[in-house]
Amino acid sequence: MANTILIGAQWGDEGKGKIIDVLTEGADVVVRTQGGNNAGHTVNLKGKKYVLHLVPSGILRRGKKCVIGNGVVVDPVGLVEEIEGLRQMGIRCQGSLFLSETAHLVLPYHRELDAHRETSKGKDKIGTTKRGIGPAYGDKAARTGLRVLDLINPERFEKQLQAKLRENNEILKAFGAKPLSFKAVHEAYRAAGDYLKPFVANTVILLHEALLRGDDILFEGAQGTFLDIDHGTYPFVTSSNTTAGGACTGSGVPPHRMDRVVGVMKAYTTRVGEGPLPTENAEIADMLHGMGREFGATTGRARRCGWFDAVATRHAGMVNGIDELAVTNLDGLDTLETIKVCVAYRDGARQYDYVPNDIEVLSRCQPVYAEFAGWRTATTAARQWKELPTKARAYLKALAELTGAKLAIASVGPGRDQTIFV
Ligand code: GDP
Ligand code: IMO
Ligand code: MG
Repeated sequence: MANTILIGAQWGDEGKGKIIDVLTEGADVVVRTQGGNNAGHTVNLKGKKYVLHLVPSGILRRGKKCVIGNGVVVDPVGLVEEIEGLRQMGIRCQGSLFLSETAHLVLPYHRELDAHRETSKGKDKIGTTKRGIGPAYGDKAARTGLRVLDLINPERFEKQLQAKLRENNEILKAFGAKPLSFKAVHEAYRAAGDYLKPFVANTVILLHEALLRGDDILFEGAQGTFLDIDHGTYPFVTSSNTTAGGACTGSGVPPHRMDRVVGVMKAYTTRVGEGPLPTENAEIADMLHGMGREFGATTGRARRCGWFDAVATRHAGMVNGIDELAVTNLDGLDTLETIKVCVAYRDGARQYDYVPNDIEVLSRCQPVYAEFAGWRTATTAARQWKELPTKARAYLKALAELTGAKLAIASVGPGRDQTIFV
């Protein structure tokens, strides 16, 4: 399969979990390289629904190594809960899961600060998942973060946590919040540290040994291109590099060892949280929500929905170097008579064929639409390209052409088998 970076090409929740699960069949190692438990990756398997937050979606296939890389921010208590939840569903992580010793920790004050900063922003809030992601990456960049290495060194951790709580409790007090108890945080984190110790590894060395063996590595992106801290709709973004480059820095695998980039996108657009969404449309949102679809996997929030935005996916093609496309949720459009695709943005007299950086401009942009005839046939039973309705094939081909990459996968349902290789 070669070394593959898989990224979300829109605003997250593109169906990365499902496609990772499918592609893991041909991989030896699956690696998360950025983000934290703000991610929610859903895999449906034999009637069971698994939602992965920190553990790579590759864990559902036996015998695959799963790595949480150095670029991830890890809430240790959350990770223990996730591993235990998987165990209860019959999935064993012991022996398959490896946690980078240099990954940064998310601590309770990060979550508190995330929530208080959101509240104090009022109507300008980002709409974060409140998992403490921004403050944890903030500490990492400020060189004041604690890492997995520290967590599993009890003496060092105790001292560091004391100092961190002293400082962060002052900040929490300034927000009018209750200070955190050292004893409670220490106990919970030490217990998580003891539980996680057997999973901890030097994952850079582990991945380079895998490269030497000729293993195929799959890099599982979290969030999506327009939530990238550099390339997204700042400040309505997450705090990591969700684009392809993040796979290198977040794992220690150099760029020249990467063989291809797969961009995952829905056949329409969704976004959860605030910030511009040029093709947002109430009609398509009502239709999808009415079908019981598009509710967040992490927070349960209703996702905002809109038509496919080819300006955005072309831009994503550019910044990620997307070679191949995986288009998911084609079946979501099965009942429509006419389907719109945004092919340009217009702001007054100015037309854009890329995503402008100034979000005030982007918020003003009106989509210019091309229209496609709907196929009005269920696609969920199709397993081969030729089994898709002609109009559905024309739609998919148009999305690939507008995005500027090769169509490799079309997904017509959440199941593993509902996948068409083109
Ligand atoms: P991720 O964060 O990119 O992994 O995506 P999420 O799991 O948050 O959201 C994608 C949702 O779409 C999940 O509920 C998936 O089970 C579902 N899904 C993925 N592909 C398809 C598809 O082709 N059709 C349908 N109906 N659902 C899909
Ligand atoms: P997956 O991996 C969709 C969004 C939040 C918010 C912004 C910042 O499942 O695609 P954060 O908590 O990261 O500080 O929130 O980013 N967000 C996501 N939206 N899918 C995700 O992950 C997301 N992770 C964060 O809603 O707008
Ligand atoms: Mg998700």
